[in-house]
Amino acid sequence: MAQTEGGFTLPDLPYAMDALEPAIGADTMELHHGRHHQSYVDNLNTAISEGAAPAEASLEELVAAAGTYPDAVRNNAGGHWNHSFFWETMAPTDDTGEMSEALSGAIDAVFGSEDDFKAAFEEAGAGQFGSGWAWLIVNEQNELEITSTPNQDNPLMDVAEVSGTPLLGNDVWEHAYYLTYNNRRAEYLETWWDVVDWDRVSERYDAALAE
Ligand SMILES: [Fe+2]
Repeated sequence: MAQTEGGFTLPDLPYAMDALEPAIGADTMELHHGRHHQSYVDNLNTAISEGAAPAEASLEELVAAAGTYPDAVRNNAGGHWNHSFFWETMAPTDDTGEMSEALSGAIDAVFGSEDDFKAAFEEAGAGQFGSGWAWLIVNEQNELEITSTPNQDNPLMDVAEVSGTPLLGNDVWEHAYYLTYNNRRAEYLETWWDVVDWDRVSERYDAALAE
């Protein structure tokens, strides 16, 4: 994602605010997209205008070199990238498609079954202390792996403990679920599968293997 003349901009959601109900309510989406994501974009633009990172850098370049910039860039470039990716990871329940045979086969081979994969992913999200993200990635050995990151870090960053190409990521900050689920993060993680866009995730898997 490149900067426009005025800096980075908030991407439109690919569906209506209430399209992910009941898994994610319109009230959560309005705050999450309109306030939280907007803040990451605004704060990133401010940091860049103050000289914290090059004005011509793409979002991907900022994320890849996050550890070389001040925390304002790491946190807000991460926040912008992660949320842009997150919206595109989800779809209304009647439009979530299904896993490709390639992805389904790899999930069975690595995790045992789709259910075992989901349980391990939910555990990663539940086990991420405080705010952060759970991820399914293609790691540097071209294998599927589940990982989690704190704050707005992600597996594309130079600072990531486990590096790889994200296929799906779930936001486990309280702002992602608190209005509906209060402090019941595990319930949110379990319900979130209803809105995961498997067509999109499968496309990402093919692209990651082709890299
Ligand atoms: Fe978030």
